[in-house]
Amino acid sequence: TTVAPAAAVPAVIAHRGASASAPENTLAAFRRAAELGARWVEFDVTLTADGRPVVIHDDTLERTTDGAGRVAETTLAALADLDAGTWFAPDFAGELVPTLEEVLDLLADMGLGANMELKPAPGRDTDTAVVALDVARAMWPAAAPPLLVSSFSRPALRVARDVTPQWPRGLLLGALTDDWRSEAEAADVWAVHADADVIRARDVAEVLDAGYRVMVYTVNDPGRAANLWDWGVHGIFTDRPEVLLPMAGA
Ligand code: G3P
Ligand code: MG
Repeated sequence: TTVAPAAAVPAVIAHRGASASAPENTLAAFRRAAELGARWVEFDVTLTADGRPVVIHDDTLERTTDGAGRVAETTLAALADLDAGTWFAPDFAGELVPTLEEVLDLLADMGLGANMELKPAPGRDTDTAVVALDVARAMWPAAAPPLLVSSFSRPALRVARDVTPQWPRGLLLGALTDDWRSEAEAADVWAVHADADVIRARDVAEVLDAGYRVMVYTVNDPGRAANLWDWGVHGIFTDRPEVLLPMAGA
């Protein structure tokens, strides 16, 4: 059975770091989240062509770096030459696509908790989960709050269940699907992570009734956040932790 870290997982989690005020999924974004008072961050992990885990959201490089092409077809050495900050603002020139090791090191140093989202490229579900969880298991301090491991990938979540059963899992969904319960049971998850734009009050109630927590992404509007918390949502992923943290009393 999953250890339920209800007390450890806060009501506000900085989505890709403080991604409204720094380039998402960079060390700068995670530092900024800490400066703004966030206790946890969410980040996305995927594999390079040479099988190294790196922290970036898209399958492709164009949106958040000055490179081009697929992350899964780019080596770590080639990725290390790319700028992952200038696209956001010139002040962030020189920010890099961080490795998973660099991110976990920084978070542990700063005492931040984390939701690690396994974001495999198509066909690399199992590899991505195995490699990322191996690295995380070796590095993440035993005294730190457990990593919350989530994924849209069902195979990746099953790897997490088997490799790091001690860490809670989150089943990532858009809207609540007809088969969400069987998926949640199969991966023995702690929470359902749903899209805040489509989840309804009755969906939240259904998940809570089944004994799971509800986490929602991505909410930057305080009024919407207040509604979701009223419905019984446990945690909210936000690009603007500075907006939601005062509401959560955190
Ligand atoms: O993990 C919550 C959220 O990050 C899922 O969607 O696309 O932002 O990774 P995405
Ligand atoms: Mg994500």
